[in-house]
Amino acid sequence: MSQPLRNRLVVTSGATREWIDPVRFISNPSTGAMGWAIATAGLRRFEEVVYIPGHCSPGFGNLDGALNHPVTSTEEMLEAVLRSTIEGSVLVMAAAPADYTPVHTTEHKIKKDPIRNLVIELRPTPDILMAVAERGIPDCTRVGFAAETDNLIANAAAKLQKKDLDYICANRVFRETQGFAVDSGTLIVLDRNGNQTTLGPESKIALGEELIGFLVRSLSPTPSRIPAAPL
Ligand code: CTP
Repeated sequence: MSQPLRNRLVVTSGATREWIDPVRFISNPSTGAMGWAIATAGLRRFEEVVYIPGHCSPGFGNLDGALNHPVTSTEEMLEAVLRSTIEGSVLVMAAAPADYTPVHTTEHKIKKDPIRNLVIELRPTPDILMAVAERGIPDCTRVGFAAETDNLIANAAAKLQKKDLDYICANRVFRETQGFAVDSGTLIVLDRNGNQTTLGPESKIALGEELIGFLVRSLSPTPSRIPAAPL
């Protein structure tokens, strides 16, 4: 018997951009490939998929069959996520939102001064996963990513706890074959009870399929025991 579809999957992907002036921004090398793969796999397992891309590489900034809400900044991504994440949603934050934004964005291009250093004051952006957790949305499953260079499992476990997540997908970045801007990798999914499930190594498309399969299986209600036949 095929499994019933879950209500709604909300997936963020890519990098947000925080503009310093009209020609410069703060961002990171996230391509959006992982989030796009997860959202694509979700189309077959969820009634609705909401795709919230930041800046993505060509091909990953839009998903046919999903409700697309493209955004630029972390603040805009926060608003789109809060609007889209309703009761019964599974939220997968695969995006790499910029953690800092300039206190002032200038309207005109900052001209280069060859003598003096340029000092830009930055303030932290809001944490999207923490803001969703604070909302207390009923039956909402929150899945984060932890892109780490060191102490992968310990850092991911600390993030899961700090952001009050149901699952966190730990992945190593800046190694030759894994992380940003490469098309394959390994995800170690941690849950609240300390269980670890390794997905891959495989392509990001295959990882997306596996992660969605894992989540759908984990979230399905356990079939109730069949009562024993009367003697
Ligand atoms: N995230 C978020 N809001 C932010 C920054 C990150 O919701 N403003 C999410 C990411 O999408 C990811 C998880 O939080 O699912 C962890 O992101 P990561 O960049 O690894 O961690 P940070 O919380 O930014 O901490 P640090 O950069 O210090 O490791």
